[in-house]
Amino acid sequence: MSAAEPLLRVEGLQVHFPIKRGLFVDRTVGHVRAVDGVDLAIDRGTTYGLVGESGCGKSTLGRAVLRLVEPTAGKVVFDGTDVASLSGEPLRAVRRRMQMVFQDPLGSLDPRQNVESLLSEPLRAHGLGGGREGIAAKIRGLLDAVGLPSAALRRYPHEFSGGQRQRIGIARAISLEPDLLIADEPVSALDVSVQAQVVNLLEELQQRLDLTYLVIAHDLAVVRHISDVVGVMYLGSLVEQAPSDALYDEPLHPYTRSLMSAVPVPDPEVEERRERILLAGDLPSPANPPSGCRFHTRCPWRQETRCDTEAPPLRELAPGRWVSCHWAEDIRDGVLRPKSPEEVAATQGVSVRASGAVNPETDALVQGVDTPVERR
Ligand SMILES: Nc1ncnc2c1ncn2[C@@H]1O[C@H](COP(=O)(O)OP(=O)(O)O)[C@@H](O)[C@H]1O
Ligand code: SF4
Ligand SMILES: [Mg+2]
Repeated sequence: MSAAEPLLRVEGLQVHFPIKRGLFVDRTVGHVRAVDGVDLAIDRGTTYGLVGESGCGKSTLGRAVLRLVEPTAGKVVFDGTDVASLSGEPLRAVRRRMQMVFQDPLGSLDPRQNVESLLSEPLRAHGLGGGREGIAAKIRGLLDAVGLPSAALRRYPHEFSGGQRQRIGIARAISLEPDLLIADEPVSALDVSVQAQVVNLLEELQQRLDLTYLVIAHDLAVVRHISDVVGVMYLGSLVEQAPSDALYDEPLHPYTRSLMSAVPVPDPEVEERRERILLAGDLPSPANPPSGCRFHTRCPWRQETRCDTEAPPLRELAPGRWVSCHWAEDIRDGVLRPKSPEEVAATQGVSVRASGAVNPETDALVQGVDTPVERR
């Protein structure tokens, strides 16, 4: 395998969940298109940040890569091997090389096991670490790597703070010496002050252990500094992908622009002039996505032609800058101007939300609060 071959390649990935109805006989009455045609690649030793509103399909994508959910269509190629073609021992071996860090370590760590047992379990299960002595030494090394004292060994998950628990979750994830770490909202449950420490730890481990990351977050700020490339998801698809700095300097897709316009700027003068682009209406249901461009029901730049009828492909506007919008060039060059949320709402026949038209989910996306959404 050449060094240029990305460690992970996702091609045309779809994950559709059937919607079942019926008292006695389950009838499939539709599908939730959680992931609906995603292509992405992650180079070795780099970090891909995946962002988007809650419910847009980020976790499902991460789970499909690990084959914790079965893809409906598409390919997941890990280190040159199509993961879908594997079963039995080869699948187990590939899974060992891809590990997951979860949002809520308390939910993913067995509360009845102490740290020693939590960390030795995966090693034993995979026959790694040698005998008792070897495993003990390995566990001490792991604790040291994540910045926990060896006194932690005898303690139980509930005895730790959120940040420390996430360190235990990370220690567990790296214990099998994986190549790829999928971190799904790794710091969303933590206080802002602790978030940076855990992000720093992830960066340090990446350097030291030569890890490749897929970091999933609804919070743009979290992903910004750790990512080499950022992908923005909306209703199951990528709408924009770019090198992190370029994306934050000049977002090109209307959805990314709206998200970014809501991020406060530290410079008070710039903050004063900052123009917020507000989105009209709610996030549409992934069971019944809008026709054409999926963002057209909320897009401040929506045009009379093409937007409602023609799905814009993800195309490369400049080197490494992928955007799925028919009008990306005109929007970038300021030829087209955004409409107000009231105008967008009026053309779509929907009402603007009472809270000043700010969608609470979008707000949560930039403020780092994951509001659970109820879906029927
Ligand atoms: N196992 C499942 N069965 C049915 N629908 C699901 C399942 N898992 C996720 N979904 C739905 O798929 C969509 C995407 O969910 P998810 O991947 O969790 O989004 P995110 O991680 O971006 O918040 C949501 O509408 C969610 O309700
Ligand atoms: S294709 Fe049209 S609706 Fe979609 S993002 Fe571009 S301008 Fe907006
Ligand atoms: Mg999620």
